[in-house]
Amino acid sequence: MEALEIQQLVSEMTLDEKIGQIAQLPADCYTNNAGDRTGPVQRLGIDETDLWRAGSVLGWPGSAEECIRIQKTVVEKSRLHIPTIFMSDVVHGWKSIFPIPLALGSSWDPHLFEVMGKVSAQEATQEGVHVTFSPMVDLVRDPRWGRVMESTGEDVLLNSQFAASLIKGYQGDDKSESLAHNFHTLAACVKHFAGYGAPEAGRDYATVSLSGQELYEKYLPGYQAGIAAGAPLVMMSFNTIDGLPAHANPYLIQEVLRKKMGFTGVTISDFAGIAELIEHGIAADAAQAARKAFSAGCDVEMASVTYLTTLREQFETGKLSVQALDEAVLRILTLKNNLGLFDNPLRGLQPGQTHSIQQPAFREETYQAALESLVLLRNESSTSRQALLPLTPGKSVGLAGPFAHSSDLLGGWSAEGKQQCVEPLDAQLKRVVTDNLKVSQVACEPLAVSSQAIEEAVEIAKNVDTMILALGLPSQWSGEATSVTDLRLPASQRKLYQAVQQVNPNIVVVLVTGRPLDLTYLDSAPSILLAWFPGTQGARAIADTLVGKNNPSGKLTMTFPRNVGQVPIHYDALPSGRPETEENKQERYVSHYVDCANEPAYPFGFGKSYSSFSYSDLQVSSAEFSQDQPVTVSATVTNESSRGGTEIVQFYVHDCVGELSRPVRELKGFKRIEINPGESVRVSFTLTEEDVRYTHSMPAFARYSEPGDFLVTIGASSADTLPPLRVTLV
Ligand code: BGC
Repeated sequence: MEALEIQQLVSEMTLDEKIGQIAQLPADCYTNNAGDRTGPVQRLGIDETDLWRAGSVLGWPGSAEECIRIQKTVVEKSRLHIPTIFMSDVVHGWKSIFPIPLALGSSWDPHLFEVMGKVSAQEATQEGVHVTFSPMVDLVRDPRWGRVMESTGEDVLLNSQFAASLIKGYQGDDKSESLAHNFHTLAACVKHFAGYGAPEAGRDYATVSLSGQELYEKYLPGYQAGIAAGAPLVMMSFNTIDGLPAHANPYLIQEVLRKKMGFTGVTISDFAGIAELIEHGIAADAAQAARKAFSAGCDVEMASVTYLTTLREQFETGKLSVQALDEAVLRILTLKNNLGLFDNPLRGLQPGQTHSIQQPAFREETYQAALESLVLLRNESSTSRQALLPLTPGKSVGLAGPFAHSSDLLGGWSAEGKQQCVEPLDAQLKRVVTDNLKVSQVACEPLAVSSQAIEEAVEIAKNVDTMILALGLPSQWSGEATSVTDLRLPASQRKLYQAVQQVNPNIVVVLVTGRPLDLTYLDSAPSILLAWFPGTQGARAIADTLVGKNNPSGKLTMTFPRNVGQVPIHYDALPSGRPETEENKQERYVSHYVDCANEPAYPFGFGKSYSSFSYSDLQVSSAEFSQDQPVTVSATVTNESSRGGTEIVQFYVHDCVGELSRPVRELKGFKRIEINPGESVRVSFTLTEEDVRYTHSMPAFARYSEPGDFLVTIGASSADTLPPLRVTLV
């Protein structure tokens, strides 16, 4: 359809039909036995006609056939034959499950995000999904918050690049153009707008207190990158900001999102976020909640029904503008048109069609992603001889711990991924360690390791050269509404570790988690391989890494604190007026803790390899740079080992003097480089004037650079870089 035809369609719609379009009802309203509408429909207080006028469906009704049936019914029952949209959370895969986003972030490989987007779109669209509620671009700095697993970490540059690549994967190369003609593409929805990743005390749904400057500088760029990449939807966040819930915040939606960020697509509430305005205490009833959200600019209401049940009267009495409604409906119909739904409501689905889901190629792609997301946090030896990993052929190996035989490796938000399709670590380890492998047989629960399981692990450990302990938290403990106040593993796992450690110090910990953890009680473990939730092919990737078929290359995109008291913690902090230094460490009035170091346990950008890389010879192409003349910064990276490996080389900049205090360092570039044994590679980065622009202060939050000095450096992590050089912006 042409744009004019859509406008024409809006002009032909009745008020009720228009209000229908801005409502999104849960899939279970449509999937109960036909005619039996007493369940979810009654619960919501709507009637059957509402089902067929609602503009979109939340979630997947369970099969492609159901999508076909529902779509056909909607088109038939709608007077103007307007199709619905199926929107679902396809976050890190549909059936072929990739590592969780925080894990995939550790690859520092934007291409993998594109691959994940493509595979997710291929699988989900063949089963009827049109829109995914992804990417979640919320910047995170507090591992108490369970949803850090859905994010890609604490850095603005990485988050923005990953979001853009993922959207390209979902939607195709030409931003959103392919949505209309390639039915194996999914439309993306950037979420949660805005600042949802910074809840007070790390508690989900709690309020957010961010300065305007911080919001603009750190939190908004991820959303902006998603919009620039062509995402046609943005989801509001549950939190308040400046005391006002995002769903009813006209400044956020109209001034920031629409005017400053130039977003022209559809805004959608989060799950029941509009009805919850009552709980927030800014609306007395459903009508006021609906009025506040709609007039703030929230186009679609997800899951709650304040729009469906109260807006008619408010438009009729002039409390709300019908013109604003027309504009919202136009945006929704444009999205439907851009998805090709008017011409092909089924987007190519055919009843009984066989689907190419979980193809071998997809399996290999999830495997590759898992390989690249593993982070080797430590690899030493208990006797200072050879490092424990990779495992030495011929030596005996034991395996115990709650994740030795667990298929709980997919992580939260794993859509239609099934644990039955996941091979656990013991099975995969048997494949690669063919002799001398002893695996515990006693059931071992992550939240309560029994004394029997501990005794058995100790017996195994006594009789093997190397003991692998697969520890971690169940997937139920990460994701939405899983905030914690203690970042340590459960006490019984710590007990397991200590008991084994007493009889055999050669311990390799394989750590399964959706968030950074406090690992101080594992200080004596010679090797720790961080697996995150690695997805469908995760155990295979872990096993291949343990035996050295894969050389780990992942690096952290979120700081691991020493303990919960250090959070929120992130590498790009502002300097203090009283910074702690090597020289003043003993002084009292410096910025420090009296009971703990300032430095984290594992900093942003950190990750080891079976190779060892050294950095040298930092150079700049000139001492000055300008708007027309960038500067090139380069260093030599050498693989000092006898093993080829991939190094993630990082480029950091510090602005010495500004109008505002600037972060101690900021990532401005990174490269994944494969380096052969003994080889030296010259790695260079370009620094432009645009790279050093930043958001200034109130009232305009303008973004510009300031002439002056910058310190530039290259290194292996945010805490391990070459002594910096000075360049001047003229
Ligand atoms: C989450 C969103 C999600 C939505 C729909 C909400 O609870 O916050 O991220 O997209 O549910 O499933």
